[in-house]
Amino acid sequence: MVVTLPDSEELRGVREAGRAVASAIEAMATRLTAGVTTAELDVIGRAALAGCGAKSAPETVYGFPGATCISVNDEAAHGIPGGRIIENGDLVNLDVSAEKAGYFADSGASFPIGEVSDAARALLAATQEALTAALATVRPGELLNGVGRAVQKVADDRGFLIVRNLCGHGVGGGLHEEPRAVLNYYEPADRRRFAEGQVLTIEPFLSTNSDRAVESDDGWTLCTAAGGLAAQFEHTIVVTKDGAEILTGRD
Ligand code: CO
Ligand code: CO
Repeated sequence: MVVTLPDSEELRGVREAGRAVASAIEAMATRLTAGVTTAELDVIGRAALAGCGAKSAPETVYGFPGATCISVNDEAAHGIPGGRIIENGDLVNLDVSAEKAGYFADSGASFPIGEVSDAARALLAATQEALTAALATVRPGELLNGVGRAVQKVADDRGFLIVRNLCGHGVGGGLHEEPRAVLNYYEPADRRRFAEGQVLTIEPFLSTNSDRAVESDDGWTLCTAAGGLAAQFEHTIVVTKDGAEILTGRD
């Protein structure tokens, strides 16, 4: 959605949804250690959302079988919470999106469990760096694909692949809105530009081995097509005249 700046009912609404999402990820991350099941983490996330007066967006919008998406190792996105036990060495992505009072926000982050491989650690650092670099390109009038260009540079420099079929999106009045595909790779034909007040997600996905993700047999989980680890960091932002203001920050 596009909100009126510097202050409006819509912006306050998305901000509230963003706070709910951030607090759910924070609560889940606190309990994210070897031995916990993904279902137990999901219960924590659901309770945190409810405590903020928010509801899971994937569940209510798409009928996703869980309140939150929890994706482990080669799972890039939309992992279903269940009996899987998190183990030392895992790379776990928590992605939470929520609706509160008709407004939506979406955020995600990947976490190392105990001792992870050097490749996993480097992948996490590169993906975080990609998000930071992408956020720095945001400015009204600048190309939306500055995001893709920035992510591509980091991926190339650090020797990782971009999961090209997963991308950012407009959010705020719904979970997925215009602009529908905020690409994570450089696409010179993409001439769309940022507009002041636009609310959208920036969410680079990088992988050690795969340039795309494919749906698994459960009908939801998106796994790296050629195997290998995936990582993602995501924030909902609003485009201000000074750049990206993050609405899903955890402090
Ligand atoms: Co998300
Ligand atoms: Co998203």
